[in-house]
Amino acid sequence: MNQTRTYRVGIIGATGMVGQRFALLLADHPWFDVKVLAASSRSASKTYRDAVGSRWAFVDQPMPEKLADLVIYDAEQDIEKIAAEVDFCFCAVDMKKDALRALEEAYAKAECPIVSNNSAHRFTSDVPMIIPELNPEHLEVIAAQKARLGTKRGFIAVKSNCSIQSYVPALHPLRRFGIQQVLACTYQAISGAGKTFERWPEMVDNLIPYIGGEEEKSEQEPLKVWGRVENGEIVKAAAPLITTQCLRVPVTDGHTAAVFVKFEQKPSIEEIKQIWKEYRGEPQELALPHAPKQFLNYFEEPDRPQIRSERMLEGGMAITIGRLREDTLFDYKFVCMSHNTLRGAAGGAVELAELLAAKGYFD
Ligand SMILES: NC(=O)c1ccc[n+]([C@@H]2O[C@H](COP(=O)([O-])OP(=O)(O)OC[C@H]3O[C@@H](n4cnc5c(N)ncnc54)[C@H](OP(=O)(O)O)[C@@H]3O)[C@@H](O)[C@H]2O)c1
Repeated sequence: MNQTRTYRVGIIGATGMVGQRFALLLADHPWFDVKVLAASSRSASKTYRDAVGSRWAFVDQPMPEKLADLVIYDAEQDIEKIAAEVDFCFCAVDMKKDALRALEEAYAKAECPIVSNNSAHRFTSDVPMIIPELNPEHLEVIAAQKARLGTKRGFIAVKSNCSIQSYVPALHPLRRFGIQQVLACTYQAISGAGKTFERWPEMVDNLIPYIGGEEEKSEQEPLKVWGRVENGEIVKAAAPLITTQCLRVPVTDGHTAAVFVKFEQKPSIEEIKQIWKEYRGEPQELALPHAPKQFLNYFEEPDRPQIRSERMLEGGMAITIGRLREDTLFDYKFVCMSHNTLRGAAGGAVELAELLAAKGYFD
């Protein structure tokens, strides 16, 4: 598609792991021009280079030169100033949920739309939680949210947790067969906790069978993504029944999920593979800059998808799947993987912002 205008953009939480990813993804974006970087009062008034210092997490990609000398704003104190300088902001900050909810609403009320990575508003019923290839129709609730907030252009749109973005996309086009039950075990990278091996040496040669709050998110968020819009709210889907176990593994980037699924009408293996191959969402139809050309990628090799060879497929925005086979308890089982800080965090949020821009929500 031809996007003729560009948008002035802010990154709130720019110094963090996800914020740094935003900086890399947005530095040369065709539609978005980064004008403002914001973080806590600890970083405010420093240049981006000085505020991040040795926390820069990407050894193979330096901080974009054009952002390095921007002076960091205080995300809590400078809301009006920031809102006046941008058309919308990305937000990825580590704060208590209540404070975060209030912060994001304060930006929306200052007429600055927020595209958020944070979990605080994921279950606010008039805040859409979007995986752009799956549920773009949920953007419709933004009108009701603006009415509640009393805003003309300010609103909040969020992306889902990174853990569900490896397996929910693979299940989504199979819903026509009536998915009854899902069991998913996730094997999650350390960058999902905002960490590197240098900052979390205990993770070398280790596995931690606990990620606080992750199993609840992994079981509940798919039901909102698969929910329906009713009277300006998203009503969660009643099915399928989902159970998960989420484990932290010694991997830098890339969340893998081992998935088991039971259907009302069991499709054939060939049918499933064909559906995955042909599935296209609105980002593919609109040819959004960060949309992968092929969203769901099935690998026939029995030892795929692997983290190292597959996580950067289509710039880290593709979902990779393998090992689809019959199961003894469920109908089928398979393995899938996605890049947690690209597809699962900053990349997914950038793609969501592109969808919002293409549909005129920032105008
Ligand atoms: N990492 C992932 O893969 C991932 C995936 C999905 C969602 N998320 C979510 O994204 C958010 C950020 O995660 P992260 O991994 O990037 O965390 P992080 O590396 O710890 O970075 C946290 C960011 O929040 C800022 N911050 C902290 N307190 C603040 C305050 N009071 N006011 C304004 N800014 C404040 C920090 O600024 P200073 O540098 O000034 O302290 C920093 O920019 C979290 O909500 C997380 O749950 C992360």
